[in-house]
Amino acid sequence: MRNLTDQDLAHLLDTPIFHQIGKTADEMGVECYVVGGYVRDLFLERPSQDIDCVVVASQSVREQAGEERPGIQLANTLGKRLGRGAHVSVFRNFGTAQVKYHGSEIEFVGARRESYSHDSRKPIIEDGTLEDDLDRRDFTINALAVCLNEHRYGQLVDRFDGLYDMEDGIIATPLDPDITFSDDPLRMMRCIRFATQLNFRIEDETQAALSRNAERIKIISRERIIDELNKILLSPIPSIGFIELSRSGLLPLIFPELAALEGVEVRNGRAHKDNFYHTLEVLDNVATMGGDLWLRWAALLHDIGKPKSKRWEPVAGWTFHNHNYLGQRMVSSIFRRMKLPMDERMAYVEKLVLLHMRPIAIADEIVTDSAVRRLLFEAGEDISDLMTLCEADITSKNQTRKQQFLDNFQLVRQKLDDLQARDNYRTWKNPITGEEIMQIFGIPPCQEIGQLKQAVKDAIWDSLIPNEYQAARDYMFAQAQKMGLTPVQDPSTLENSKQ
Ligand code: CTP
Repeated sequence: MRNLTDQDLAHLLDTPIFHQIGKTADEMGVECYVVGGYVRDLFLERPSQDIDCVVVASQSVREQAGEERPGIQLANTLGKRLGRGAHVSVFRNFGTAQVKYHGSEIEFVGARRESYSHDSRKPIIEDGTLEDDLDRRDFTINALAVCLNEHRYGQLVDRFDGLYDMEDGIIATPLDPDITFSDDPLRMMRCIRFATQLNFRIEDETQAALSRNAERIKIISRERIIDELNKILLSPIPSIGFIELSRSGLLPLIFPELAALEGVEVRNGRAHKDNFYHTLEVLDNVATMGGDLWLRWAALLHDIGKPKSKRWEPVAGWTFHNHNYLGQRMVSSIFRRMKLPMDERMAYVEKLVLLHMRPIAIADEIVTDSAVRRLLFEAGEDISDLMTLCEADITSKNQTRKQQFLDNFQLVRQKLDDLQARDNYRTWKNPITGEEIMQIFGIPPCQEIGQLKQAVKDAIWDSLIPNEYQAARDYMFAQAQKMGLTPVQDPSTLENSKQ
């Protein structure tokens, strides 16, 4: 965070648009402040395009304006001043208006005071002062305002020591956190999201209120929850958010499958690893390796099938056989419930969950051409992401074993590059078709055709024969002979007719 004086703020806001807003407010006889995230991000040096402004109108100005809300009135007047480049949208139901101007989006709203009656969740909204408006915001770091009126241009209003909290890296609510969270339970997700994005600590009272109010998250729509969850996932260290979600009791409510990964069971002195913390380690690794949102989702879900596949076997101990298959099958129900896109992005996550153990299995053995080719074929264009996920999954605490894996992994990567350069297995097609086999041997569709095609595929992938038509055909004939099949015509004539 950087320290900014009012003079610095005036300098940073020294752009024509902010001055125009200030002049318009002066003419209307109202106060106007830029507030919330935009001000916070000036201090945190995070560039932002979305600007929120609060307009404070005195009783007499409000009476003169009649029905017109102060935010809407200012936006309309500003729109006229700015001329052709400006586009004003009015949301009369909310008493707000938006001005789009040269890539900036500026939202105007009148200062508000909210009070909640016991019988209804619907707030009663009245016009209020700037102080009323800042009181009802979510966090101290979001309750900052900078004046745009010309005689106070750049003056900061910080009622709740938001700057100190920003300096100390603390997320805290301006008012009693039980009130702030119960007014809008989405703020619990926002609290954890900001803590994760900024790597801030959640203040103790605020933390305790998260646990007390967790159940209230149920009234928030899935779309708004997933929006916050995706922001947590896209943070530099996403595990911070998931640990907080678990600590506050929100995780089982919004994501029971992930919460089920938590915990260690011990039997006969043998324990399995805590799959929740392991998953978070993999997720952080993928984030460090630059993974996008969907690769991060794949990391989060890679072991999601483990609780359902967990078994105790007297000799082997804890096993999780087929957890990748079970996990892959769980992806669609999770995506559907969470209102995530059920398109090719989901198919990508499913594929990675299914295949996440394959590269490591290859690296654990002798790295053969055929094994790498099969992997290349199944992963297709997602091979590089699969390799990233698998490498991120190596979280062994045994350094020698970890190094051994990483070295072998290098070998798999090297082989992948070599093979990709040599032949393109991603779009591999068997040079011999079933149609051709039926013609040559005069047979109807039958299982021998599949067996012959499979034999050719295996021979090519195991590098027994080159990936070429003639070699594949010769090999097919040899195999067919062993199976007792004879061609209806002389093979050499057939060969000529093909060419
Ligand atoms: N706000 C709030 N309670 C909410 C949402 C928003 O009090 N549930 C207030 C905060 O003061 C916030 C401002 O409205 O700073 C603007 O909200 P929004 O644009 O959603 O968030 P930002 O804080 O700007 O941050 P981000 O863009 O990262 O979501």
